[in-house]
Amino acid sequence: MTTAIYPGSFDPITRGHTSILKSGLVCFEKIVVAVLNNPGKNPLFTVDERIEMIRETVEDMGEDPARVEVDSFDGLLVDYAKRKGARTLLRGLRAVADFEYELQMANMNRHLNEEVVTVFIMANDAYFYVASGLCKEVTKLGGDVSKLVPRPVAPKLRAKLGL
Ligand code: PNS
Repeated sequence: MTTAIYPGSFDPITRGHTSILKSGLVCFEKIVVAVLNNPGKNPLFTVDERIEMIRETVEDMGEDPARVEVDSFDGLLVDYAKRKGARTLLRGLRAVADFEYELQMANMNRHLNEEVVTVFIMANDAYFYVASGLCKEVTKLGGDVSKLVPRPVAPKLRAKLGL
């Protein structure tokens, strides 16, 4: 079975992420969506909240839950991938601006474990500008991002921000 790890902060998951996940499922039999446990990044949602939102989103998308595992990790991503028996990391690319950061991470991960391969999928152009951070900022300032985040996420985002 070809399994890929799709790692990220997912604070919260956006429709950009879901477009990558959908495309990833064309390529891989199973995808493990791995939420980084990153208290240092001062996330808006706890890891458990992020996991719950991703699970609800996968259900809402109608994807086979057996093909999408949602988990959290801390420590090195390549070590986590090894524990999960996966040799592929899946990342999405939006604009050129993502490229340098992704290149750096992919090469660092290759340096740490050359058996692990990073695969990139281009984000759907409808969501090229969508980022979790921007969705949080816009919601906080009263803007509507309900078309940019999965259905189960929009009300939770507003509630979390006290709106
Ligand atoms: O959604 P993000 O915040 O861009 O995801 C970044 C993530 C989680 C993929 C990256 O920070 C990560 O893999 N962190 C785990 C620590 C690690 O392995 N660092 C060395 C590789 S660069």
